[in-house]
Amino acid sequence: MNQNSTSARDLTITHIGELFTADSGNVPCPNDQPVRVLHNAFIKIRNGRILELGSMAALDEKDPPGYTVDAAGGTVVPGLIDSHTHLIFAGTREKEFVLRSSGSTYLEIASAGGGILNTVRAVRSASHDELVALALPRLARMLANGVTTVEVKSGYSLDVEGEIKILEVVRLLNKYQPIELVPTFLAAHTTPPEFENNRKGYIDLVTSDECMGRVANDRLAEFCDVFCEASAFTIDESRRVLLAGRDCGLAPKLHADQITQMGASRLAAEVMAVTAEHLEHVDDGGIQALSQAGVIAGLLPGCSFYLGVQQAPVRRLLKAGIPVAIATDYNPGSSMVESLPLVLSIACTQAGMTPSEALVGATANAAAALNRKERLGVLRPTLQADLVILDVASVNLWLSQIGRGSVRSVIKEGNLVYERGS
Ligand code: NIG
Ligand code: FE
Repeated sequence: MNQNSTSARDLTITHIGELFTADSGNVPCPNDQPVRVLHNAFIKIRNGRILELGSMAALDEKDPPGYTVDAAGGTVVPGLIDSHTHLIFAGTREKEFVLRSSGSTYLEIASAGGGILNTVRAVRSASHDELVALALPRLARMLANGVTTVEVKSGYSLDVEGEIKILEVVRLLNKYQPIELVPTFLAAHTTPPEFENNRKGYIDLVTSDECMGRVANDRLAEFCDVFCEASAFTIDESRRVLLAGRDCGLAPKLHADQITQMGASRLAAEVMAVTAEHLEHVDDGGIQALSQAGVIAGLLPGCSFYLGVQQAPVRRLLKAGIPVAIATDYNPGSSMVESLPLVLSIACTQAGMTPSEALVGATANAAAALNRKERLGVLRPTLQADLVILDVASVNLWLSQIGRGSVRSVIKEGNLVYERGS
């Protein structure tokens, strides 16, 4: 990088071989609509925002470029957005990985008292500082993979103080490192042992003023999520939590149709959820409901890959005009996968998406999945300058080289926050 200006946030990236803007003119967008791609291009950043982009021939040399970065024919894409993670956890669950390799299923392990409850035991005994220390290197690796925004769910303590502890850890991490973290309240992840014979009592607690009310008042979360599944919560229980969340200003999201078809997508449509996530077992009625209600499908191809189960029916969702977001679902049980580029490649090889469709799912549509489409996810003048410089000539080449690690630099709000090798 050459310094020929004074402001660190005035930056021009030149000689971009492929500039993938993820901009279809209107977001969220059906992923199979063409987005704007420029070749031999530049992009100018001022005060953390995108000022201008265009072809190199149109670059006005008289206009001071600020810092200049020569992309040397590499690709530039929007900063990646991981719109579904369970990033804050302690402990590891490789025993379950081995059990599944020998034929056990996720539900069998959960109903034997393992699964989520294994992580709950470890998180309950971890301090704020310990959880921060565990999360920082994970976030550093995500940044090195080009990720600039991450949604983070609570749900691994299942008691009032512990769920708040997790959300407070997210707040601290937002100050300690450059990735923007978006908190989601997921106390309804599964029923804790203390409430095993009193499920209603647990839902009462989750939706109480002392728990959900405090989370909303202290702005500790933006979204409310529920794991609607045979091993977790029913449709009626999920509805109660999501409506209570909506009443106190937490936008609904739902883990829907992951393992069991229970009508969860219809519930997501009924409560006007921002996203319905997973959808491995969505049915035609669910697809129709999501499409009519304008709910975004949050798909997690790395989770299916990790569990060795079927992928969500991406093509049917796209055909119904549903915007598709792609995320890692990073968690210690069902998706110990940190790399969003790896998951995008899995979306291509295992779920039938093209690289461009998958990348729109981790940029423009992921921003919409986090209610941030006015600011993030697309490279367009006036939007926030979050972007990634890759050392490969195209998005297609990048995602075809699975797991290679092609990220050269990451820029967050106009600041260089990661450079390979330094
Ligand atoms: O998205 N589905 C629910 N939650 C996670 C799994 C969490 C866990 O097993 O710890 C998921 O797959
Ligand atoms: Fe999840």
